[in-house]
Amino acid sequence: MADTISHDLIIIGSGLAGLRAAISAASTHDSLNIAVVAKVQVMRSHSVSAEGGTAAVIFEEEGDNKESHIYDTIKGSDFLADQDVAELLVRSMPFEIYQLEHWGMPWSRRENGRIDQRKFGGYSFPRATYAQDKVGFYEMQTLYDTCLKYDNIHFYNEWFCTSILSDAKDFRGVTAIEMKSGDFVKFKAPAGIICTGGAGRIYSFSTYAYSSTPDGLDMAYRAGLALKDMEFVQFHPTGILPSGILITEGARGEGGYLINNQGERFMKKYAPTKLELASRDVVSRAMMREIQEGRGFKHESGVDCLKIDLSHLGEDNIKKRLAGIREIGIKFSGIDVIEEPIEIRPVCHYMMGGIHTNINGATEMTGLWAAGEAACNSLHGANRLGANSTSECLVWGRITGRLAAEYAVDHPSVSSISQHQVIEEEKRIYDGLFRSRGQVNPYEIRKELTDTMDAKAHIFRNEKDLAEGLKKVRHLKQQAWKHVDDHAKEYNTNFINVMEIDSMLRTAEIVLAGAFNRRESRGAHARTDYPNRDDINFLKHTIGYLTTQEPKMSWHPVTFTRYAPMERKY
Ligand code: FUM
Repeated sequence: MADTISHDLIIIGSGLAGLRAAISAASTHDSLNIAVVAKVQVMRSHSVSAEGGTAAVIFEEEGDNKESHIYDTIKGSDFLADQDVAELLVRSMPFEIYQLEHWGMPWSRRENGRIDQRKFGGYSFPRATYAQDKVGFYEMQTLYDTCLKYDNIHFYNEWFCTSILSDAKDFRGVTAIEMKSGDFVKFKAPAGIICTGGAGRIYSFSTYAYSSTPDGLDMAYRAGLALKDMEFVQFHPTGILPSGILITEGARGEGGYLINNQGERFMKKYAPTKLELASRDVVSRAMMREIQEGRGFKHESGVDCLKIDLSHLGEDNIKKRLAGIREIGIKFSGIDVIEEPIEIRPVCHYMMGGIHTNINGATEMTGLWAAGEAACNSLHGANRLGANSTSECLVWGRITGRLAAEYAVDHPSVSSISQHQVIEEEKRIYDGLFRSRGQVNPYEIRKELTDTMDAKAHIFRNEKDLAEGLKKVRHLKQQAWKHVDDHAKEYNTNFINVMEIDSMLRTAEIVLAGAFNRRESRGAHARTDYPNRDDINFLKHTIGYLTTQEPKMSWHPVTFTRYAPMERKY
């Protein structure tokens, strides 16, 4: 029988949202016993690799204003953002910038000592607050240091959560495997927050860490919760070749240009006002057009690409403000951006969709919240603006941490955990995966899956490709791939990978199903067969539930406050 570990609140995931939630909960009630459970060590969370900035309005005296940040976010979302959610982000963010500063965040500063901000795509004002080009690393370090001041936050590093335990629609806890010992345990708590990040490793050319698989999304999906707007996948314009590692949008914010094989700064044709600082969906589509029309370069790996030129920014500037991406260029592409343009192409970078929540991050399960990229509170709609993601993690980490803490105080004990659910979960992972006898190599299934997503659900989509993608993913699901070669108990990463692949297949299916159903082009979802936005039929969120057959798809209304949809131009 699996051991039980009891807490008042379980936070799953130790990235920016998870750590911010832990601090918020711990400071709401110092008697609360909080667990942060994550499959990686804290400073290995993918949040560490956020580069360019965190968006906030902090220079109203210089002309910026919150109304403009709200509108930029809604326009960026192609009018699919819930407008009250965008407003909550913007009004909450200045506090978070100064709160981080007070906890020790080394924001980059102006000559006069004020915190500095840089330009980012889709904004009307420079409002990406930055720390050189290592924003995520410094934010994570600041939050982790702060967490360590609280005796009531307990870290379970390298524990892989496998399922949500519930009683009817009430959260009861999770099952997890301690990777070090291989022990399977139950975590029991009245409240939980899922902060497991995005799922971008379902694509092969991706900026995400290899650990960014959809375990958290899939746990919620298997527990009967809806995933929302999963078809909206963001492709960042500048991933380096061949790895896909990010060259921050801050590079364009600082004045970097995109060029094609004619040496032309092609963005002037697509976004005459904002050029390289149009929103990401616009820039990535323009780049794919340039490549498709033969104006790309050929990278030595054989892949078509374009280049970003930073050489005119000057050595001092690059060393001071973009040191991280210079190092990445030298180490991973063999190119020093001080001296020459570097080859890049659009790369999977963010999922606008996630676990369906309300404005406060509450899921459809009582006692369970979700925050950060794992959640879809409908802040980003069909396209997220750069620098709004780290902001989202901070704001909804704080909100959900407080609400979950208050809920745990009001519901102090979890009476029972369903043994039936625990036994069913043991059967699913040990009989269904660990001891299963599949002959097909699971890593080949993963490769075929990610290649399919790159080929069939990329920047430009159409009905034929999406139907083929769905067919392929369903075929892969049916293959006899379920088995684990390594039967060691301790640190069995083969077993963890197989569970990850299982979650990737279900998540990829719902991305494709949502994209297939949305017969319009909006934000990051560009259908060549339906090239226009269709507000009459599709100004609504996609909702999907898991069934034993295909996902059950439906729609959910968008919340409007003051901003009527209009044509987007940059
Ligand atoms: O380009 C970047 O630095 C990415 C930022 C973001 O995705 O918010």
